[in-house]
Amino acid sequence: MKFFIDSADIGEIREALAMGMCDGVTTNPSLVAKTGKTFQTVIDEIVHTVPGPVSLEVTTNSYDEMLAQSEELASYGDNVVVKLPLTRPGLRACKALSEKSIATNVTLCFSPNQALLAAKAGATYISPFVGRLDDISSEGMAVVEDIVQIYNNYDMETQVLVASVRHPQHLVEAARLGAHVATLPLKVLDQMFNHPLTDSGLERFMADWEKVPTS
Ligand code: E4P
Repeated sequence: MKFFIDSADIGEIREALAMGMCDGVTTNPSLVAKTGKTFQTVIDEIVHTVPGPVSLEVTTNSYDEMLAQSEELASYGDNVVVKLPLTRPGLRACKALSEKSIATNVTLCFSPNQALLAAKAGATYISPFVGRLDDISSEGMAVVEDIVQIYNNYDMETQVLVASVRHPQHLVEAARLGAHVATLPLKVLDQMFNHPLTDSGLERFMADWEKVPTS
């Protein structure tokens, strides 16, 4: 299973890379705005630092503008993945980009039907937003389960990228269902390391080590 880091903050991304936990990065307009930097600065910082795929999102819902933006984004590096919204123009652009072998990540997916459309349009990744579904009392992981099963039924190549991850249990479920990728806020990655029995166990080992005679 691949871990992407869901962030436009180069400090967070470097931290995850150093731990060997960053196979790629996803950004969106909200994450870029949070950095307080220009989009160009964010692109320059991330695209050349991360060896894996970096999703950069278009900021329009017009097909022609999407194509123009996508070409520009793709020109920043071979590892750029163009992130497109799951709309009619978005999927039309997805089809056009897949015909040019430009990698795509179809975002804002909230249903298995939408995911099926994205796969038919040739998406490299589909991003179901589990946290936002949970927020409205839907079951985000049930959507992921359906998508994984549907894609498996037809050997579809589109990879399931679980997005809008809010807590470590989302990761457990995503991995159990066989999702190809999960994109994690650094906070969730940090939480995954924690277990109180690890802390207390380490404390006991350290204390007992002090009792071992040195001669
Ligand atoms: C990533 O590709 C998505 O844009 C992101 O995971 C959305 O997360 P949020 O619902 O916490 O904003």
